[in-house]
Amino acid sequence: MSKFNDIDMSRWKDYSDIYTDSLWIIDKRDNSGAHSGDYHGNFVPQIPRQLFTRYTKKGDWILDPFMGSGTSLIEAQRMGRNSIGIELSEDVAKEAAKRISTEKNEDCKAVTFIGNSQSADMEKILKAAGAEKVQFLIFHPPYWDIIKFSDKPDDLSNAADLEGFLNSFGEVIDNTSKVLESRRYCAVVIGDKYADGRIVPLGFYCMNLFLERGFILKAILVKNFGETQGKSNKQGIWRYRALSSDFYIFKHEYIFVFKKP
Ligand SMILES: C[S@@+](CC[C@H](N)C(=O)[O-])C[C@H]1O[C@@H](n2cnc3c(N)ncnc32)[C@H](O)[C@@H]1O
Repeated sequence: MSKFNDIDMSRWKDYSDIYTDSLWIIDKRDNSGAHSGDYHGNFVPQIPRQLFTRYTKKGDWILDPFMGSGTSLIEAQRMGRNSIGIELSEDVAKEAAKRISTEKNEDCKAVTFIGNSQSADMEKILKAAGAEKVQFLIFHPPYWDIIKFSDKPDDLSNAADLEGFLNSFGEVIDNTSKVLESRRYCAVVIGDKYADGRIVPLGFYCMNLFLERGFILKAILVKNFGETQGKSNKQGIWRYRALSSDFYIFKHEYIFVFKKP
């Protein structure tokens, strides 16, 4: 198997911090360095850290087409990986760029772009960044309309219906995965939603988008999530509602890992 990470198997017992189980319980967000939990809808830095450790080497290029506050790029800087982030909202992208620049690492670059990942000119972006291909792709799309990120029509959180959301996400996968090196990996972080008295299994619908495109499924990881700011003071209400009805309170999201054939 060709090497796709820097794990030294002669020291395998030293890597107790690297996850190999499919259940990820992360109790505390890593808020060190440039990381901050301010951006509503961000993910914990431990997610990119674990994935980059398993699937990338120092000097590799990582692409995040839904950059948000730049968590992936900050983590890439800390880990000596080059990174490219694309974000639709100008203000969000500028704020991310500012934050990322405080996590300087002379050994690697972090380059941010404002654009729509469905149609952004990837050849041009890679050329501007100084990369030929990327070696890892990390997708953290909106969980459809659970959080509205902007009023922009191209924002996936504004898709009119499920089909529209999945079509748009499919376009992002097609547009960005063409610059992913063959036999390297990508991951999508996504949760489900509840609407009209039923679960909309966004996670599995999104997983299928990758399977339909011939990606090889390598992992279905289940990650816990704790209290969100909005829900922490409503715990009792949710428990009352669940207990008196027929549903369970979401406490997990998925991380699907795929290999490009
Ligand atoms: C779930 S958030 C990503 C958060 C990020 N992982 C972080 O830790 O901050 C999704 C992001 O995708 C952006 N977005 C939505 N549609 C997009 C599109 N078509 N192209 C690029 N970015 C998009 C949103 O503005 C939002 O910032």
